[in-house]
Amino acid sequence: MNSFTFYTPTKIIFGPRTCDQAGQAVKEAGGSHVLVLYGGGSVLRNGVLDRVTASLSAAGLTYDCVGGVQPNPRLSFAQSIADQWRDKGVDFLLAVGGGSVLDTMKGVSMSLSCGGDIWDFFQGTRTVTGAVPMGSVLTIAAAGSETSDSAVLTNEATGQKRGRNTPFNRPLFAIMDPELTYTLPPRQTACGVTDIMMHTLDRYFSDSNTEYLTDGIAEALLRDVMEAGLLAMREPENYDARSEIMWCGSLSHNDLTGLGRTKDFSVHQLGHELSGMFDIPHGESLSATWGSWARFVMDTDPGRFAHLGRNVLNITETDDRLAAQETINGLEAYWQRLGMPVSLGACIGVQPDEVLQDLAWRCSWQGKRKVGVFRPIDTADILDIYRAANH
Ligand code: NZQ
Ligand code: ZN
Repeated sequence: MNSFTFYTPTKIIFGPRTCDQAGQAVKEAGGSHVLVLYGGGSVLRNGVLDRVTASLSAAGLTYDCVGGVQPNPRLSFAQSIADQWRDKGVDFLLAVGGGSVLDTMKGVSMSLSCGGDIWDFFQGTRTVTGAVPMGSVLTIAAAGSETSDSAVLTNEATGQKRGRNTPFNRPLFAIMDPELTYTLPPRQTACGVTDIMMHTLDRYFSDSNTEYLTDGIAEALLRDVMEAGLLAMREPENYDARSEIMWCGSLSHNDLTGLGRTKDFSVHQLGHELSGMFDIPHGESLSATWGSWARFVMDTDPGRFAHLGRNVLNITETDDRLAAQETINGLEAYWQRLGMPVSLGACIGVQPDEVLQDLAWRCSWQGKRKVGVFRPIDTADILDIYRAANH
């Protein structure tokens, strides 16, 4: 087991009607003038924003609201919010939405706190040295941004989707009311379940596999979110299913399911290039590439895939190689039951080879890096994986 520091400072306020506690939570965190961020309008239609602002007023707080964050959130929009609200006395940022709103908030926080252009932090040319205090009212279980140290933004001028990890990205609190997710369209529920699974899978395949408690937590989470995912697709207002998914979403990406080992995250890197170029939902970019990645790297350690399948999918095959193939097929079959794509053709259409070459070149940062640790992949490997998914 590698040495680690496990730091998850985000206070979780979980349960029905907890969104009405937003004002109190901000007040306890020391905020007085709140900038509330939200997305394309779901929180207006389902009344969540009204409930949140009513609770801010009841707590005696001043607030302003800014909506319009798009999925695959844009750098320029985050930068415009930061520029507009600099020196206006905002002392707390509150995201009401999902990963896209949260990540926009984190980008705004970087610029308000440290000054300057948000993209510098995402390119790694500047270090994040502080944050405006932040919290969230989560409306979709998926990205895990409510407790993660990451933010992901898309630079629409270059088509680059990039992440920035820093402890300053961890919000102070997350209000997690599973009832708020009842209004999710099935496609978003399915994308969310897939992303939650992938945050654990992208940690499960690493350069070590002797962290037995970490494995057990990861496997339990995968079994749980897969079962609850199917139930929520059938019964969108099943509170228990929505609760399990929501809690899995946070635990899957607060580092618990990969503790003591190096993060791989190859499939996330493959997916980010697809979302950056084609603006497809994050979850679809992952299910479309995971199987091709898995088949490409499987021979590195078929036993690892077999172990996953035996503990998560109840695979009884005793030959590791055959069990590994069953595991890969089994996970793809699960995503298809959710209606998720398991090939490029099923989400962006079959692409000409020049496009795949461009994607691979971008993903390896013009040949400057190998991706992942389970089986580090270079430009040629990445191209092979995109080609295998291109049907
Ligand atoms: O914009 P609105 O109208 O609110 O609609 C949203 C959006 O269209 C809708 N939605 C959210 N809650 C709803 C709802 N519709 C009805 N009822 C509700 N209760 O769902 C759509 C997707 O929202 P979004 O915030 O984009 O979803 P998600 O949470 O999946 O976030 C995806 C983004 O997070 C990034 C992804 O790359 C992607 O950009 N990620 C962030 C991570 C992080 N910061 O730690 C890690 C992840 O790996 C991921 O990369
Ligand atoms: Zn993800």
